Amino acid sequence: MDISIKIKDTVFANPILLASGTFGYGSDFVSVINQVGGFITKGITLAPRIGNPAPRIYELPGAILNSVGLENPGALDFRNKILPRLNFSTPLIVNIAGFDTADFSTIVKILDCDRIAGFEINISCPNVKTGGAIFGQDPKLTEQIVTEVRRATKKLVITKLTANFIDPVNTAQAAESAGTDAISLINTLYGLAIDLKEQKYFLGGKTGGLSGPAIKPFALFCVERVSKAIKIPVIGGGGIVNATDVCEFMLAGASLVQIGSLNLINPFAAFDILKDLKKYMKIYKIKAIRQIIGKVRSNDDKNNTCG
Ligand code: FUM
Repeated sequence: MDISIKIKDTVFANPILLASGTFGYGSDFVSVINQVGGFITKGITLAPRIGNPAPRIYELPGAILNSVGLENPGALDFRNKILPRLNFSTPLIVNIAGFDTADFSTIVKILDCDRIAGFEINISCPNVKTGGAIFGQDPKLTEQIVTEVRRATKKLVITKLTANFIDPVNTAQAAESAGTDAISLINTLYGLAIDLKEQKYFLGGKTGGLSGPAIKPFALFCVERVSKAIKIPVIGGGGIVNATDVCEFMLAGASLVQIGSLNLINPFAAFDILKDLKKYMKIYKIKAIRQIIGKVRSNDDKNNTCG
C-alpha cells in the first residue's frame, strides 16, 4: 500500500506531520521524527524571544490552552547552532513568524539552504500583540507576506491560517493567488482561563490558544470549506488523536495532517497512528492513501460504504 503524498517537489513518506510548537526544533525523539511524513519546527522569529510569562499552559477536558508567546532563539541562532545538529531524514519545514510584514522574507533569506524542505508561514499565532493572527485576519496582509516569501524562495511554501474571527476561505484564496504551495489550518482558537480563587487571569500571557479534540469538529469544518474553495493542497489539523481522525481530515479534503496537542501528552503517538492508518487502508481496501483526499460522500449517496 502507498501512504506517501507529494506536494510540489517534496515527497512525504506518509501524511503525518508533527505540528509546529509541539516537538521543539527536532533535536529530540529522532526515532519518531524519522517515521513521520514531515517535521515542522517551533516558530522562528527574526530576533530571539523569551516568550510569555508563566503559567503558559491550562488544561481542561478535551483541550489545552497555551500561551507560549513564540519563545525561540531567533533566525541566526537557529541557523548557526541548531540546524547543523539536526540529523533526521524526514522533510524539515521551518515555521516562521514575524511582527512586521518584511520579517517573513528576511527570515527566509537567512535560512534558505539545502537542509530545509520548506517554510510554513505562521500568520496565525494567537499569543502575540502584533503580527501572528492579526496578520492572518487580513487577506491583503496575507497576500503581501506570501508574495514576499514566494519571491525569496523556490522551496515549498505553506501558509498556516487562523480561523479566529474570520472566514479562512478569504485568506486561503489570498495566499493561493500570492503563490503559496499549500494551506495549513487551523491554528489554535482564542481562549481565556480565569483563576477563580485569585480572581485573575490564569495564563501569564492573559489569553491563550485552544487546541485538542474539543476543536476537531470546527477544524474539520474549516478544512472541508477551504479545500473546496482553492486548488492547492490543504494540510489539516486540530484535535487529531488517532488514525480515524486522520482519515476524517483526509476525506474532508486534507492532503496531509498535523498532529499537535497529542504530542505533548504522548510523543510516540505517531507510531500508533501510522500502524492504525495502515489497518484502516487494509479494511477499506485503499491502495493509495491519496485516493481518499476530499472523497467524503453526501448523506444521500447510495454507494456510501465508508461506515
Ligand atoms: O504561543 C505560541 O508560541 C503559539 C504559537 C502558534 O500558535 O503559532
